[in-house]
Order: sequence, then structure tokens, then C-alpha cells
Amino acid sequence: MEKEVTDDILKAQIALNRLPKHIAIIMDGNGRWAQIQGKARVFGHQSGVQSVRDITEAAAEIGIEYLTLYAFSTENWNRPNDEVNALMSLLVKTIQAELPTLNKNNIRLQCIGDIETLPEATRLELLDAMEKTSHNSRMTLILALSYSAKWEIIQAVKSISEKVSKGLLDADSIDEALVADELATKGIPDPELMIRTGGETRISNFLLWQIAYAELCFTKVFWPDFRKKDLFEAILDFQQRQRRFGKTGEQVESF
Ligand code: FPP
Repeated sequence: MEKEVTDDILKAQIALNRLPKHIAIIMDGNGRWAQIQGKARVFGHQSGVQSVRDITEAAAEIGIEYLTLYAFSTENWNRPNDEVNALMSLLVKTIQAELPTLNKNNIRLQCIGDIETLPEATRLELLDAMEKTSHNSRMTLILALSYSAKWEIIQAVKSISEKVSKGLLDADSIDEALVADELATKGIPDPELMIRTGGETRISNFLLWQIAYAELCFTKVFWPDFRKKDLFEAILDFQQRQRRFGKTGEQVESF
């Protein structure tokens, strides 16, 4: 009850006409959260699913259009096999279990990343859920899976060079919009706010092109503890900032 009151008080302070359209989150700290309690790292990932639910619900509730969650990076394949396997089965289970809720709440599921590298069960479950939610329009939940920004940029460079070498594209016509259209996030607006939980202050190969002008928010809260109130606080902090895009403060204020 007290928690809901805090959530509602914070929510009421958010200016709904100045919401970020797209929020991207690096969900970090699951392993440490579990280890502090003397539990296996996997317990942290399992507990992190409740935060995924809570934050997806909160984002949809206030009218965020796109929410991207960094669920598994290209580099995460280097973790111990047991942890990778546990994460993959957790993904299958979670996607299966959450599909009715996604549809009930009119949320579309999308994915960015090298999904060919995912185990078949995970890939098929994901593709099925993406298909079954493709007509939903309230919010798009994007899972970054087997994703890294450098992988994505390499794919884009390869595709552009192929077009140039086949004579389909003039190298002089390459501009920002063209590059953006070759990225996994084609058609998705850049995130205005990126949040990283878990206390580290780095980007870890996530959406490097797309966050050129994003506001960054780092919190010490571990992902399994990250709740609606924390998301609302990050949005309130975002709304306090002056986004200058290279201009002076005076120029922005006089606009
Ligand atoms: C980072 O914590 C978290 C991950 C690599 C996985 C995130 C996955 C989930 C929350 C589970 C399911 C997600 C979805 C979208 C259904 P870490 O292990 O790097 O933590 P540490 O920094 O404390 O080691």
C-alpha cells in the first residue's frame, strides 16, 4: 500500500507532455544481488524477471512508446555454460508466460540482435511471440538479445558496402538517415533516456550510434530491486535536464 502511494506521488509529478518516447535500459546487477544473499547468480536473473514485468507495466502506464531492455549481449556468450543455458531457458519460459499479458496490455514485442545465434527453442519462442503481438500498438518492448552495438555497426557497414559495390548506392549519398536505416533499430526512434542499474558507469557496447544525444542515468540499484518508483525517479531526473543538442542554454530557452 505504502509502495503504491510512493509510486503514485512520483507518477503524478511526471510531465506527460515531455516524456521520452524511447527508454533503453541496461539491466545490470542480477549476479551481485544474488551473491550478496549467498545465492547462485541464476537466482538473480530469475528475480530480475519481476523487475522486467514491473518496469514494462510502468512504462506502458505512463505512455512510453518504446522500451528497450539489454537482456543478453554478444559478450555474454563468454559466461559459464550453465549460466548461459539458464538465461536462455529463462527467456523461453518468461516469453511464454508473459505472452497473454503482452496481448492483454496491447504491447508489441520486438527484438534486436543476432538471433540466428540463439538456441532454436529460444529463437522460435521469440519469433512466435513477436508474430503474435505484431498488431499491438500501445508500446513496443524491444529485447536486445545476442546484441552488441559493434556487431550491429559491422552489419550496417557490410550491407552499405555491398550496395555500393553493386552500384546500387552512390557512396556520396551516405548520410545519417541511411546509416540509421541499416541498423537493427531501423524505424525505431533513438532513445532519449538510457538507464543503467547496478552501479557501473559504462555503456557496454549498447546502442552506441543511437545514444549520441541520449541522457544517461546511472543508478546503484541492482536490477532485481529496480521498481516503478526507480523508473519514475529516472524520468523526473530526465525532465530536469536541459537538452541542448550542441546549442547554448540561451538558444534553447529562447526557442
Ligand atoms: C546483467 O546482470 C543481466 C543479464 C545479463 C541478464 C538480464 C536478464 C534478465 C533480467 C532475465 C530475463 C529477461 C527478460 C527480458 C525476460 P549481471 O549478471 O551482469 O549482474 P552482475 O553485474 O551483478 O554480475
